[in-house]
Amino acid sequence: MARIIDAPLTSNDGGGCDPRALHGAWGGLNAAAARGLAYTPEVKAKTDALYERVAHVVPAFEWPAYAPLIAAINDMKRAKNAIVLAHNYMTSEIFHCVGDFRGDSLQLARQAASTDADIIVQAGVHFMAETSKILAPEKTVLIPDLRAGCSLAASITGADVRLIKQRYPSAPVVTYVNTSAEVKAESDVTCTSSNAAAVVEWAAREWNTDRVILIPDEYLAKNVAAQTGVKIVAWHGRCEVHERFTADDIAEMRAAHPGLVVLAHPECPPEVMAAADFAGSTAALQNYVIEKQPAKVVLLTECSMSDNVAAMAPAVDFIRPCNLCPHMKRITLEGIYDALNEMKHQVVIPEVVRVRAKRAIDRMLALPKEKPRAFDVRRAPAAVELV
Ligand code: 13P
Ligand code: SF4
Repeated sequence: MARIIDAPLTSNDGGGCDPRALHGAWGGLNAAAARGLAYTPEVKAKTDALYERVAHVVPAFEWPAYAPLIAAINDMKRAKNAIVLAHNYMTSEIFHCVGDFRGDSLQLARQAASTDADIIVQAGVHFMAETSKILAPEKTVLIPDLRAGCSLAASITGADVRLIKQRYPSAPVVTYVNTSAEVKAESDVTCTSSNAAAVVEWAAREWNTDRVILIPDEYLAKNVAAQTGVKIVAWHGRCEVHERFTADDIAEMRAAHPGLVVLAHPECPPEVMAAADFAGSTAALQNYVIEKQPAKVVLLTECSMSDNVAAMAPAVDFIRPCNLCPHMKRITLEGIYDALNEMKHQVVIPEVVRVRAKRAIDRMLALPKEKPRAFDVRRAPAAVELV
């Protein structure tokens, strides 16, 4: 498959924090009609129960724009034995109304590996669709928009990894799943934000070394270094969403909202982690909110996540700073409808690359299954060696 053309859209392109202003509701209203789909009494009957899940974020007057697409997607899934894997950053009408499995990137990879569906529609970004195809080569994997990239995945190539390996020949290469198949193929093992510290500790033991290469996210590498005694060699990739949060933002929010509980994703800079109350993968953040039910919380991560968790924790008050992932927002209901209807865009990975990439993912999946690991935000910062 062609490399991702990086999405020119950014969260500062005038859409503010509302993904529907960028892609959704009004385009969606036309989108359903343009596909010959209408809000009929039959569609209403099929979708009324689903509306309850998103009523806190989708105004009632907008629902007739979404419901025909949702009903048609759910009908097509049944007819074609397809599933939609929805990442936690999807907008709520996708996440709660057409997603069959929802979760963080590790949970979605496990679902891809175990599903008996014939078709997987990845409601997430391109590297997630590639991961599904690597794990389930016999299935058709569809990504609704080829532009759904990732700044971390775009930051490094297979050739870069080969050069790093030449420089540190005895260090194992642990690669974040937010990378291309080509980069995974050059790696020893993959990790996600749910298990990064555990994988790095495992790799150090397995290779009998105190130095591990952890690429491509500089901040994740620094945050993992603080959690482990392992020396980390890091790359200079950044998540364009999480790198924007600052410790000053947190201080301002705490001043404005006494008692606020601050949860951060480990792609955030170390000083943001240190100023937070808890940190972990998107699944870890969701679990924290549901289990602890804080009165007032802020999730320092992509903003659709708060909308999605709010449906599962209605008593919690969410403070919502705006940080959209423009790549995740390329995925829309109409895009999912077209993907299933026209069987596009099919993910194709050269077999020689897929097999090598799978070895790295399989090693991660073979490690003992544990709850998404929290990062201890009180740990002292640790230095990394940047290449
Ligand atoms: P999770 O694995 O925590 O879902 O993170 C994926 C991602 O892209 C975060 O920006
Ligand atoms: Fe990539 Fe960041 Fe978007 Fe996640 S939020 S997909 S890491 S750009």
